[in-house]
Amino acid sequence: MTKDINKSEFTEGTKLKLAIFRECFKEWYPVFLNNPYVSRLIIYDMFAGSGRDTAGNVGSPIILLQEAMGSEKQYCAQIRQNNKSVILAFNEKEESKRNELECNIKREIIQCKKACPFNDCVFDNACHYAHEDFSDLIQKESLLRTLNNAKYAKFVLLDQYGFKQINDEVFLKLINAPKTDFIFFIASSFIKRFSTLSAVTKYFRQENVSFEESNPKECHRVITNYFRSLIPANKEYYLHSFTIQKGSNYYGLIFGTNHTLGMEKFLRVCWRHDTLAGESNCNINNDFQLGELFYQLEGSNKKQDVSKELKQKILSKEITNNKEGLKYALKCGCEPKVYVDVINGLIKDKKVSIDGQFNKTAMNIHSAKLYNISVI
Ligand SMILES: C[S@@+](CC[C@H](N)C(=O)[O-])C[C@H]1O[C@@H](n2cnc3c(N)ncnc32)[C@H](O)[C@@H]1O
Repeated sequence: MTKDINKSEFTEGTKLKLAIFRECFKEWYPVFLNNPYVSRLIIYDMFAGSGRDTAGNVGSPIILLQEAMGSEKQYCAQIRQNNKSVILAFNEKEESKRNELECNIKREIIQCKKACPFNDCVFDNACHYAHEDFSDLIQKESLLRTLNNAKYAKFVLLDQYGFKQINDEVFLKLINAPKTDFIFFIASSFIKRFSTLSAVTKYFRQENVSFEESNPKECHRVITNYFRSLIPANKEYYLHSFTIQKGSNYYGLIFGTNHTLGMEKFLRVCWRHDTLAGESNCNINNDFQLGELFYQLEGSNKKQDVSKELKQKILSKEITNNKEGLKYALKCGCEPKVYVDVINGLIKDKKVSIDGQFNKTAMNIHSAKLYNISVI
């Protein structure tokens, strides 16, 4: 039987996972709060737990509530002014844990009200609770209607035990829902079983992938690539994973979004935690680090590999404009600035020229001014 995460103090690995959830949501939330085309933001925590560990550390539902208010409660004022609707939807299968969660959330709101100048709280009626099995919940028409409503922005947190709740069908529902970003958790203890699922073994055979349990660092990359293979070829979609090592255990987070800005923001969080590859807390590419004899000033293995690929794709005319280059960097899990550095080098070396107005835009790339690249 799985150990109840809320019945002891969170481990360091869990704390790092929660820190990434927090930062990821913190980046996502203001984008949609300020989006005039979005009338409602719905934040789902599908495996919410009871809200705290035995030492009083806050779990994901309270983290989401705190970030939805803002560190200075700045978002409460914004919600009030803009008449936006923000909903926090918590699901926890165990009824007793769901009830405990409701008490913990109410306590958090009461505490907050003590320092609030308003009598009413914008979050008084914003929190909804369910105690359903996620596999039943995800089949419900009402949930699917909401997920598919393009006027609503949805953030879906899936902090499952193990792995099995996010199967191909669930993944496809999530990636096909508009304005829906999600992050899910994978515990390495399930990895062995993942590699024996029939759809997965078929994919491994087709792609000639060998699944090395002995190389757990690679596991989440392989799993992410498996999910990537489920995305229809004509669909623009971004997926990135982050591996957390704690002792001999490896955990993974996979984030998915259909918007470049969503991935830019998630990658910012990942590269903050891993300045070498933006992918793990365990030097996933075995880079030499600052202070080591073979440390490379030009950048980590990951940055060098992606730069080399970009250069080659530009010179072979596979990438013909800045948007394609910026998106390629993003798809490889690099911040788009990598593309800007590459194109700058190629211009200086007189290998390419620019048709149109050159710009160095590497943020908010969806609104970057387009220019074309000519190979000289
Ligand atoms: C990893 S814990 C989540 C911890 C929570 N995110 C936190 O930060 O405290 C997973 C939670 O999902 C619940 N759970 C397990 N199976 C579930 C299912 N099929 N549907 C919904 N909840 C489930 C467990 O009771 C447990 O509280």
